[in-house]
Amino acid sequence: MLIFHSAEELQKNLSSTFLSLGLVPTMGALHLGHLSLIEKAIKENTKVVISIYVNPTQFNRPLDLKKYPKNIEKDFEILRPFKKHLILYIPDHKDIYPKGIQRKKYDFGSLSQHMEGKVRPGHFDGVATVIEALFKKIKPNKAYFGEKDFQQLQIIRSLGEKLNLGIEIIACPLIRSNNGLALSSRNSLLSNKQREAATIIYETFNLINTKASVWSIKKMKLFFKSKVEANEGFKLEYFCIADPCDLIPVTYLDSKKNYRIFIAVFAGKTRLIDNVKLVRM
Ligand code: PAJ
Repeated sequence: MLIFHSAEELQKNLSSTFLSLGLVPTMGALHLGHLSLIEKAIKENTKVVISIYVNPTQFNRPLDLKKYPKNIEKDFEILRPFKKHLILYIPDHKDIYPKGIQRKKYDFGSLSQHMEGKVRPGHFDGVATVIEALFKKIKPNKAYFGEKDFQQLQIIRSLGEKLNLGIEIIACPLIRSNNGLALSSRNSLLSNKQREAATIIYETFNLINTKASVWSIKKMKLFFKSKVEANEGFKLEYFCIADPCDLIPVTYLDSKKNYRIFIAVFAGKTRLIDNVKLVRM
């Protein structure tokens, strides 16, 4: 597998004959969720660059950055079957931040004002800073992002429009384990007991969806909170129902509109986020 630590070297080695270049940005500690993006990118492009970079400017809590799972040897193993199609880009900080590690400021309007944007100040500016750098350095035709981070996906779509680099943003479905837990690198920080208990999140989403046409949003939230917090060490940070386009949380449902449920939950010290389409039966 071709591995580069500098985008300049990577560009020099890219043959100009490829038809389409795909980009899958990641922070490593790869799992089947990441692989679903990589497989889709391989199907739709001649070559695919996967970046592995734990971006410091998107962490608003220093301890979270310090604890972020890293396992580059295992990542190589996971990527080995795809090595013919992949180029691995593992930049050092200087390559992404030549002028020092600093986040830029963006205006994403309502997209960054609620949920993750509200509880993690600066997070989306950090994400946008690294994605802008990757887009400009790698110059892909298509870039792949998961609905696991739905708010991030909408922000990157907006960033793509602002930058106007002609990069197509491809959304990929959220991948769950068999018991419904959304796959995430941070799941490796959970104890077995917490991992088992965290399945209550998806179970409760499904229960709420069976009641969504009769329950108020307040009732849904109280129900979700009581189910989740019945588990030792679990604490709800937010439960929001929002329009997937503007990501503004609502207090009542308009029967003609579509919505998603967004949650963040602490399982002990580990923070989990998840989201699902609200289905009114
Ligand atoms: P990371 O958490 O490593 O995720 C990389 C990509 O994989 C993101 O687009 C994310 O939404 C997607 N992903 C993660 N878990 C998934 C799952 N269970 N199902 C589907 N897709 C999943 O998100 C980031 O890194 C960073 O913020 C990044 C965009 C790389 C910028 O630093």
